[in-house]
Amino acid sequence: MSKPLLLLTRHFPEAVEARAARDYATIPNTADTRMTGPEIVAAARKAEPAGILCAAGDALNAETIAALPESVRIIATFSAGTDHIDLAAAAARGIPVANTPDVLSVATAEIAMLLILSAARRGGEAERMVRARQWTGWAPTQLMGVTLEGKVLGILGMGRIGQALARMARGFGMEIHYRNRRPLPEAEAQGATYHDSDESFLGAIDVLSMHIPGGAATRHWLDAQRIALLRPGAIVVNTGRGSTVDDAALCAALESGHLRAAGLDVFDGEPRIFEGYYSAPNVMLLPHLGSATVETRDAMGFRALDNVDAVLLRGEAPPYPVK
Ligand code: DGY
Repeated sequence: MSKPLLLLTRHFPEAVEARAARDYATIPNTADTRMTGPEIVAAARKAEPAGILCAAGDALNAETIAALPESVRIIATFSAGTDHIDLAAAAARGIPVANTPDVLSVATAEIAMLLILSAARRGGEAERMVRARQWTGWAPTQLMGVTLEGKVLGILGMGRIGQALARMARGFGMEIHYRNRRPLPEAEAQGATYHDSDESFLGAIDVLSMHIPGGAATRHWLDAQRIALLRPGAIVVNTGRGSTVDDAALCAALESGHLRAAGLDVFDGEPRIFEGYYSAPNVMLLPHLGSATVETRDAMGFRALDNVDAVLLRGEAPPYPVK
């Protein structure tokens, strides 16, 4: 029996592509650049694949999905986030969408912790100074940051990534507060303090770490009003989705000194980055590295292929469907 055709919109880790090639006739994206929506449509119409393996940032919007050939029976994304896929359009076409939750929780929490540390201890500024050959030697008041021990970390969205970050931050002596749709069972909260309003949450914390999904409901959640509720000198870190932050408002608060520093791994409209961040010394900018470890990216790929296998090899529902 011939192998089902699988369109890969990206170049994926070697082990993932090897497993895909073992079980499918793969149509690779050899360019190693993101395919545009029209390019995905053109490739799919040409090859008529049974499945599409895509990734965060791919333009699986309503227009792309509507133009896909009838052959497509699954869209599997190599990501936990699904804001790049028009789920309603896929449902209208009867194409199941599946993602890769859980396996990236620790890696993403590590990047959040890295940004928290860098923001608190001015890691970005310090590294830029040394590289610019501007370090003139140790000085008692040079690049002083704040210590994390005893500070309150506020986790917005206490899912698996938030909980992994809470475990790490406890190791630094931080107290954990969180804002969620509902309180977690104690086994998951591990003593963290739940807030049922933005006002009480934002007013109680020294560091805000954001872990909420993108999309219309969360667009610009962190706006000027909510920033004003944060304590003077607070730190903001975002490893969720860039669209959840009003960049102009965040930049203004970093410039006025109301906020001490920020650390961002995700950006609204990335890879485009809000111009004001480039010249703000107190913001550390990373290129969406959250899940970028060898172990995690392999695990994401294998999970994505588990989804494809269920639909295309066994005629079953994918194990990680997006509802
Ligand atoms: C995801 O999986 O949604 C990440 O943002 C990409 O690693």
